[in-house]
Amino acid sequence: MTDKSAQPRVLIFDTTLRDGEQSPGATMTHDEKLEIAGLLDEMGVDIIEAGFPIASEGDFAAVTEIAKRARTSTICGLARAQIKDIDRCWEAVKHARSPRIHTFIGTSPLHRAIPNLDMDQMAERIHQTVTHARNLCDNVQWSPMDATRTEHDYLCRVVEIAIRAGATTINIPDTVGYTAPRESAALIAMLLARVPGADEIIFATHCHNDLGMATANALAAVEAGARQIECTINGLGERAGNTALEEVVMAMKVRNDIMPYATRIDTTKIMNLSRRVASVSGFPVQFNKAIVGKNAFLHESGIHQDGVLKNVETFEIMRPEDIGLNQKNLTMGKHSGRAALRSKLKELGYDLADNQLNDVFIRFKALADRKKEVYDDDLIALVADEATMDAHDHMVLKRLRVISGTDGPQEAEMTLAIDGVDHVIDATGDGPVDAAFNCVKMLFPHKARLQLYQVAAVTEGTDAQATVTVRLEEEGRIVTGQSADTDTIVASTKAYVNALNKLVVRRQKTAPDTDVKSVHYAGE
Ligand code: KIV
Ligand code: ZN
Repeated sequence: MTDKSAQPRVLIFDTTLRDGEQSPGATMTHDEKLEIAGLLDEMGVDIIEAGFPIASEGDFAAVTEIAKRARTSTICGLARAQIKDIDRCWEAVKHARSPRIHTFIGTSPLHRAIPNLDMDQMAERIHQTVTHARNLCDNVQWSPMDATRTEHDYLCRVVEIAIRAGATTINIPDTVGYTAPRESAALIAMLLARVPGADEIIFATHCHNDLGMATANALAAVEAGARQIECTINGLGERAGNTALEEVVMAMKVRNDIMPYATRIDTTKIMNLSRRVASVSGFPVQFNKAIVGKNAFLHESGIHQDGVLKNVETFEIMRPEDIGLNQKNLTMGKHSGRAALRSKLKELGYDLADNQLNDVFIRFKALADRKKEVYDDDLIALVADEATMDAHDHMVLKRLRVISGTDGPQEAEMTLAIDGVDHVIDATGDGPVDAAFNCVKMLFPHKARLQLYQVAAVTEGTDAQATVTVRLEEEGRIVTGQSADTDTIVASTKAYVNALNKLVVRRQKTAPDTDVKSVHYAGE
């Protein structure tokens, strides 16, 4: 048995709330961000990148509140290489028990061209901004964005400048997911060998998954000496996403024989976090996703099932319990009481307040009336659906009746409460979902474009609940709505209304997306 306490520690830096949330359509509400941050803190994440404080008032407020509430995690905010960004970032993170400022600038030839700085001017900017950050906070991270496409000599030069100016962590981003494992390792080894003072600081690896190599690249960097992995839950992030937290953590745990590194992560919390992030971001986890996909522990084929029954190690390299996946999947029925529901939800990782439990209980009873057996996945969908509702919602679907048939057009009749006043309307459409959406459009005219409409069955059987995801785009603002119901048309309409409610909030908060986030890669 290896002594894990003697193994080198790899710090886990989670950027679900910054790089993950930056993914178009993954915008989370203030309360959702606080909830995810609380769960990350509880799971043992060393550093939470909570947002980009200068990007919007909403980001600033969320980072500030997360900083105030954090118990053990360091709270980090992102700032471009500008004094005003760094000051704003500090204003938000300074409330944390352990604050960190993360400042960055694009150093590759392509990125240097954007702010129109030559190599010397950029070096000077790095010196000034890192020095300024370090004067505010003794924990400063600096990133040369697009490091993997930056000339090695220049990368060594600017990393040395940042270290001399006081950076305590140097992050090496593979911004466009371009590198490969051998190269990722060689880059860290090169920096450790060539940069004076490199052994005094921590090197971090930040990989994007455009070529599907983010996990391999991050682990290769660790083997070469990086001691911080930047990652997101479910690999959430722009384009193909970031390194998935659950993959790197479980890889180092399961293959600790060849990757002898320790983390502080309580892996039994992974599954719950994965579900919550999927739900609040509106980005469902693909079924065959490593570690957290629905099929990751399913053994369908006869040969596999036989092997697993005889000895689980035949086909399983880790146990479902290791990631907090309860496979008992005991069903609940209409006779199950409030205490049974509370205990079941606790087992699934949800510790609800009394009023939340009451709301979920009422909906559980209604569901149990319609459905013979209520499975774990049904309850998870129900809690997630409850969480999408807000007492301040502009619109609430009260009633829906659809007249459907094979020879359309279909007709829908609906009662929609808008700011507390009930409105009744009917409309036709090309199919029942179209008819229901047309009712909403008539009562709440808007120009939002439907970017995604996705239906997934929560469990098996024709009485299964459907989870519907709707993504809308209006003048660059992208919002995602979700809902679950045994009636697919009701779930669709509620998901559509949920997305529109989010859009109303976004309209109040932001001008059409010319905000800092969407242009942040300019580093200016
Ligand atoms: O991918 C990237 O380069 C980033 C930086 C801001 C660190 O996310
Ligand atoms: Zn990134």
